[in-house]
Amino acid sequence: MTTSRRQFFGQAAAVSAGVALSAPAVEALAAEPAPAGLVDVVFEVNGERQKLRLDPRVTLLDALREQLGLVGTKKGCDRGQCGACTVHVDDRRVLSCLTLTATLQGKEVTTIEGIADGDDLHPVQRAFIDHDGFQCGFCTSGQIMSAVKVVEEREVRTDDQIREAMSGNICRCGAYPNILEAIKQAKAGDR
Ligand code: FES
Ligand code: FES
Repeated sequence: MTTSRRQFFGQAAAVSAGVALSAPAVEALAAEPAPAGLVDVVFEVNGERQKLRLDPRVTLLDALREQLGLVGTKKGCDRGQCGACTVHVDDRRVLSCLTLTATLQGKEVTTIEGIADGDDLHPVQRAFIDHDGFQCGFCTSGQIMSAVKVVEEREVRTDDQIREAMSGNICRCGAYPNILEAIKQAKAGDR
């Protein structure tokens, strides 16, 4: 990824901060076409319908954090190299820093805030706690969002296969052995 791309999305982030809408303003979107240079996007986030008016260059990561206040999804590299920003779109894991919000019309997005069942943690969250699968925690929401899908992938069984499936998620604290044990526990419970 090049410097020009970073500049591109830096500008997009600045734009996104300028077009956050209040709830009544959001309701008005249906009646009023978007001004030139902006697009309206309607999609679901953690089961709730969201309508955003934004610059078409705004990434899902910035829309989640800056417009919807869902800051559990972390911005690490902002260039597709660390996995800290991993979320699910229509049940597949994606890097939200490389996903343009304007492409998500009608899609379902799930973030780390949406995987627990009320006060009951998701089994993968529980397993990360049981095995100390984090230190500073910065990578953890991305690790967990990836791990949720790896647990569901029945063809991923061995330690090496789990490591390979999780290789897009970097942990600077080196909590990899604990993360592996957490995923194995969650997989054992998933059978
Ligand atoms: S912030 Fe998206 S991959 Fe690093
Ligand atoms: S727990 Fe610190 S980067 Fe992974």
